[in-house]
Amino acid sequence: MTLLSLTALLFSGVEQGQLLGASRAPIRAKQGMVASAEKLASQIGIDTLKKGGNAVDAAVAVGFALAVTHPSAGNLGGGGFMMIRFANGNTVCIDYRETAPAAAGRDVYLDADGQIVPKASTQGYRASGVPGTPAGLCLAQKKYGRLSLKDVVQPSIDLAEQGFLVSDSLSDSLKGAAHVLELFPESRRIYLNSGKYLEPGERLIQKDLAWSLKAIRDNGADGFYRGEVAAKIAAAYEPHGRWMTQEDLVKYEPKFRTPLRGSYRGYDVITMPPPSSGGTVLLEMLNALEGFDVSSMGAGSSRTIHLMAEVMRHAFRDRAELMGDTDFVKVPTSQLIRKSYASEFRKRFNPDKASDSLALPARVLPANEATETTHFSVVDKDGNAVANTYTLNGGYGSGVAIEGTGILMNNEMDDFTSKPGVPNAYGLIQSDANAIARGKRPLSAMTPTFLLREGKLFLVIGSPGGPTIINTVLQVIVNVVDFGLTIQEAIDAPRFHHQWLPDELRIEIHGFSEDVTKALESRGHRLALLGLMGDAEGIMLEPKSGMRLGASDPRGDGQTIGY
Ligand code: DON
Repeated sequence: MTLLSLTALLFSGVEQGQLLGASRAPIRAKQGMVASAEKLASQIGIDTLKKGGNAVDAAVAVGFALAVTHPSAGNLGGGGFMMIRFANGNTVCIDYRETAPAAAGRDVYLDADGQIVPKASTQGYRASGVPGTPAGLCLAQKKYGRLSLKDVVQPSIDLAEQGFLVSDSLSDSLKGAAHVLELFPESRRIYLNSGKYLEPGERLIQKDLAWSLKAIRDNGADGFYRGEVAAKIAAAYEPHGRWMTQEDLVKYEPKFRTPLRGSYRGYDVITMPPPSSGGTVLLEMLNALEGFDVSSMGAGSSRTIHLMAEVMRHAFRDRAELMGDTDFVKVPTSQLIRKSYASEFRKRFNPDKASDSLALPARVLPANEATETTHFSVVDKDGNAVANTYTLNGGYGSGVAIEGTGILMNNEMDDFTSKPGVPNAYGLIQSDANAIARGKRPLSAMTPTFLLREGKLFLVIGSPGGPTIINTVLQVIVNVVDFGLTIQEAIDAPRFHHQWLPDELRIEIHGFSEDVTKALESRGHRLALLGLMGDAEGIMLEPKSGMRLGASDPRGDGQTIGY
C-alpha cells in the first residue's frame, strides 16, 4: 500500500474520531533490533550485534555504514548527537555537533551593506562547520563498545571499496541534488558519475572514502583530525580563505552532555539538551499537553491538531528567542522545562481560536532555581539502547566533497543566526543567542529521545527534518501514549508542524480530511501544505514480554531489522 493510500485510509472522515483501522504491524524480534534509514546499514548493525557487539558497537557501525550508503545525510563530514541508555539504567549523551571554524565570526555571511550573501551559509566551502562525526563515533565505541574499532569500521570499508547497488531512491535523491553536486568537480565525479548519473542497479564504488575510513580504522579519530586526511581537508579549504584549517580539526572535541529529563503522563522522558533545542522544546510541549485530555479529543481531529499547533507555536517562540550553545550563552533551560511554566500556556489557550504568533503575551518564566539528517535506533539483547541523529544539515550538505577523501562536507553553519530576524533555510528566525562565534556549536533541533515506563526502557525514537524533527518526535510520543497506537501506526500517521514563525500550520498533503482542515481554518489557522515530514525510526519494547517492536518511516526508504 502506498503512503498516500494508507494515509487516505487512516484519515477518511475522522473529524472527531480515532485513527481508522490498523496499519502495518511493526517488525518484531526477541533480541536485537536496528531501525535506520537504509537497509544495508541496518543489516550491518544487526551483523555487529550477532558478532557479540552491543548497541553502541552496532550504532557506530551503522553510523559509518550510512556515510557510505546514504550519502545525503549519513556522514563523516557532519555531526550529531548520540544518546545511550544502558541496561543498568545509566544514560549518556555524546554531543558531536560541528563547531564554527576560527575563520568564522558573527557577520561572516553578510555583505558590506549588512545583507545576507545568498547561499553563503548553505552551499560551498564556507558553509561548513568543523565535522564532529568521526570524533563522536570513535569516542562512543572506545568508551562503551565491546568489539574493536576495526570490527565496526571494516564493513563500511568493504561497502565503499567493493561498492553497492544503487537503489531507486538513492538514484532519485542523487539526481535531485545534481544542481548542487555538479558545482563541485569531486562531488560531480563521485555522486553524479561524472555527469552520466547513477541509475538504479548500478554500482557506487567510493575508493577514496574507503581510504579515509581505513585511516579511522587504523588510527581512530586521529585518522581524521590529524595526518593525511586532515591535510587533504585543510588543503581543499586553502583557496577558500583558509576557512577550515588543520588547527580547527585538531581542536575539535566531542562533549558529554547531561541529558534532559522530564515526564509525560507517567512516562519518563530522557532527551537531548543544548546545543540542541530539541529536548527543551519537546519537554515544553509535552508539559503543556499533559494538562489536557488529549486522548478523548481523538487522533487526527481538528481539536487535537489545534491544541498541538498552539503548543508548538508557544515552544518554538522560546527556541527562536532564547536558545543557543550553552557553552557560550545562558539559556534558562531548567525554567522552560518546569511543569509550572506550562501553566502559562494553559491559561491563555483558546480552544476556538488560533493565536497570533506576533502578538503572544510576554513570557513569564518561573523563578530561577538552582535545556538532511538521519536517525537510527538500536536495542541489543541485553536491553542497551542507542538513539542517534546525525546530519550534514541539507541533503548532501554543502555539496563539497574533499578531493582524495570521498568526504562530503556539511552546511551546518546555516543553523546559526546569520542575521537576527532573517530566516534561515528552514524559515527559522533566531536570536543573538545563536549568533556565530568561533568554536561555537550552531543550535540544532535534533531530538534523539528515550521514553521509560516504570523505570524501564519503553521507546527509542528520533527523526530528521530540521525544525520538524521536534514535532515529529512529539507526535510519535502522543500517538503512542495518548492514542495507544503501535510504533508503526504512530510513525505512519500524518503529521503537522508549527514553528511560531512563519505563522502557518503546515500539514502533510493528503494527510487530513477536508472537514478537519476546514475546522482548523475556521479557528484562524493559516494552513500550508507540506510534502512529507520527517523519517522517524523507532523501537518500542513491549512492557510485559520485552519484545522489541520496530518501525521505519514509510516516508523514507529505511528498514527495521531484528533477530
Ligand atoms: O541540526 C539541525 O537541526 C538541522 N541541521 C537538521 C537538518 C535536518 O534534519 C535535515 N533533514 N531533513
